Order: sequence, then structure tokens, then C-alpha cells
Amino acid sequence: MNIDGKTKITGIFGYPVEHTLSPAMHNAAFKALNLNYCYVPFLVHPDYLEDAVKAVKALNLPGVNITIPHKEKVIPLLDRISEEASFMGAVNTIVNSAGKLTGYNTDGRGFMQSLAESGISVKGKNILITGAGGASRAISYYLSQEAKALYIIGRTKEKMDRLVNDLKASGRNNIAVIEDLYVIDGFHIIINATPLGLKEEDPLPFDTSLLKEGQIVCDLIYKKTRLLKEASKKGCLTVDGTGMLLWQGALAFELWTGKRPDVEVMRKALRKE
Ligand SMILES: NC(=O)c1ccc[n+]([C@@H]2O[C@H](COP(=O)([O-])OP(=O)(O)OC[C@H]3O[C@@H](n4cnc5c(N)ncnc54)[C@H](OP(=O)(O)O)[C@@H]3O)[C@@H](O)[C@H]2O)c1
Repeated sequence: MNIDGKTKITGIFGYPVEHTLSPAMHNAAFKALNLNYCYVPFLVHPDYLEDAVKAVKALNLPGVNITIPHKEKVIPLLDRISEEASFMGAVNTIVNSAGKLTGYNTDGRGFMQSLAESGISVKGKNILITGAGGASRAISYYLSQEAKALYIIGRTKEKMDRLVNDLKASGRNNIAVIEDLYVIDGFHIIINATPLGLKEEDPLPFDTSLLKEGQIVCDLIYKKTRLLKEASKKGCLTVDGTGMLLWQGALAFELWTGKRPDVEVMRKALRKE
């Protein structure tokens, strides 16, 4: 990478941030398109989030990604919020257009792209999501636009009800909370949007003995979790969270540069990491 007087700096604000795979993915994509950009991790303590956001303007950065724990707290610090980020109550990408900062959230569209590239269509499907946190909210915003029916199951009733009510308020009527899971035959697609599976010793998010051959099982965690391994054994098609990570990054790249990245270059960089 050649840094010179015209290099544009993007990056990610997080705390912690050391684990991020985004620099590898974005820097490879900038290089492939010969764009004079670079992407760096910024360890931003929550006490300095406001200063860091002001620095995006002060330093004339084209934009940054935002990750845990800043995705929600950053919203009041921005000039504009896109419709999807406003629904999600979370921003993962900031774009600086002539000193005005707009917050976007590319996570949900990233997930939809990862389904599409696996040849999975959501149209007319019955879908179950476990968990009602930020990632569940991000994907359900898009899934509910196309699915026949979308069901949410989780452990905190108020959070699930809030998500379902917010989706209903934005015109979706194909969504409901379910409280107990006895059979899962009726679902074409089942998605784990909880952190269960991050650690080897975690329990499964649901009883995988209920799965049937041909069902589609997705995990937003970006590795082959025990859930996905068990689902594969049952003859299910599985999708891990790597594709979502890849595509949310590709969409952010496009927002900053106006150019489509070479997604295969990004995928290769992610795999290498
Ligand atoms: N692939 C990607 O690009 C991508 C992007 C974003 C997130 N993710 C992954 O998605 C997962 C969820 O992230 P998030 O941002 O939505 O987190 P979050 O906002 O903290 O929400 C987590 C959800 O999981 C539930 N949960 C947490 N621990 C649980 C447990 N032990 N048993 C049952 N339910 C539990 C929570 O329930 P309560 O409401 O009761 O707390 C909540 O509904 C994480 O693993 C994250 O790594 C992946």
C-alpha cells in the first residue's frame, strides 16, 4: 500500500477493535481496484465517541464503519440517518458527504445478499429467527418484506414484542412471536441470531433433532458452529455468517467509493484471516 498526499482514510470505530477482520477485506478490495484508500482500526473508548465522530468531519474522512459498542450511541451524533438504520436503531456505516454525516446499516442487506449468493430465495417462505437483538432486527427488516411468514423466538418477551410491533407499525403483517418450539417442520429457513455457538461449550439455540432434511439453517456467527455441523448431518443446507460479514462490507465500500468492489478478492482476504 502506498500512502501519499491523496490517500483517503476509512476505518472502523470499535471498543475493542483488535479482532476485526474488516481491514484485511477492505484493503484488499481497494488494492484490487487501484483506489487510493486505506482502512484502519480505531480503538474508540465510549467516552470519546463524540470526539471521534467529529474527527470524521475534521479529518475529512470519506466514512467509517461502526461496531460494538457504538452502533446505537452514534445515532444522535450524526446529521442524517437512513430509513433502515432508523428502524434498526443502529448504524454500522457512516458516510461523510461534504461535511454531512449520514448513518446507514448494511448488515441486513448483507445477509440478504449472502442468501442470494447461496441460491436461497426468501419469497413465500416460512422463516424462524432465534433472538431479537440488533442482528435479528437488521435481518427481519428485509426478510419480512419477502417471506410468507416470519416468526421470532427468544428469551426476553418484551424485546421480541417490541421488534414484532415495530415491524407491524411499518406495514408488515406476516410476523409473530412464538413462545415454544415443539416442531420445526413448518419452517423452510431457520436462523440463529443469538451469540449461542460463539463458544464451543455453548448449548445449541434449539433442539436440532427436530430438523428435517432439506431445511435451510443459517447462523449469523461467522464460523461453522455446532448448530451448522449438526444441521448438515441432518441433511439441511447451511449458511454461516461469513457471507453476511462480507456483503455488509461490500455495501459499505460502495457507499464510500461509489464503486462495486471485487467481492471475490474480499472473500479471499476474509478466508485468509
Ligand atoms: N455475520 C455478521 O456480519 C454479523 C453481524 C452482526 C451480528 N452477528 C452475530 O449475531 C449474533 C447476535 O448479535 P447481536 O448484535 O444481535 O447481539 P445482541 O443485540 O446482543 O442480541 C443477542 C440476542 O441473542 C439473545 N441471547 C443472548 N445470549 C443468549 C443465550 N445465552 N440464550 C438465549 N438467547 C440469548 C439475546 O437475548 P436477550 O434479548 O434476552 O438478551 C438477544 O435476543 C452474534 O453472534 C454476532 O456475532 C453477525
